[in-house]
Amino acid sequence: MTDHLTIVDHPLVQHKLTIMRDKATPTAVFRQLLREISQLLAYEVTRNLEMTTKRIETPMCEMDAPTLAGKKLALISILRAGNGLLDGVLELIPSARVGFVGLYRDEETLQPVQYYYKAPEALEDRLVIAVDPMLATGNSSAAAIDLLKEAGATNIRFLCLLAAPEGVARMKEAHPDVPIVTAALDEKLNEVGYIMPGLGDAGDRMFGTK
Ligand code: URA
Repeated sequence: MTDHLTIVDHPLVQHKLTIMRDKATPTAVFRQLLREISQLLAYEVTRNLEMTTKRIETPMCEMDAPTLAGKKLALISILRAGNGLLDGVLELIPSARVGFVGLYRDEETLQPVQYYYKAPEALEDRLVIAVDPMLATGNSSAAAIDLLKEAGATNIRFLCLLAAPEGVARMKEAHPDVPIVTAALDEKLNEVGYIMPGLGDAGDRMFGTK
């Protein structure tokens, strides 16, 4: 994957995203659509995975058939909203290894502070896909990628549902080697760091906490 930003403009993705943006959409529908979209996005973020072949026998004859190469990939959910994307991606790639990064924003310094980290071993040998629905300021995403790199990851992709130009710029500056796949690039952030027009607080909307 070479482009820094890939926008998945598939009609099904865009249609589902519009329903998710609508504030009248109930929690259960929002969660179900996120699961569906995450599978379509996962299809794109894994498009050029490394392949090899293995010798198999069909009922007709032997053949060298394509199969994924290398170690199982690692999915890293950036808590808590990342879990909404994680579920769908895992359905598509059930053998993936899974990790979690928890960060909160210090209200005084506005910098992300880590409160949880658990990742699969041998990150250096895996494709690592970090998932978080909303790439807003990019501060917590960039910090999460820092942690993954400190743990040895060298081949990382970032999967989100919505991105703001500010977040994309922040990620490009901090991690130009990490391609981003998203369903849409929105207009801007508002004064409190929410994506506009966006869909509101992704965690609240998927978990019904507001
Ligand atoms: N996180 C969200 O959930 N929504 C935004 O708009 C920005 C960050």
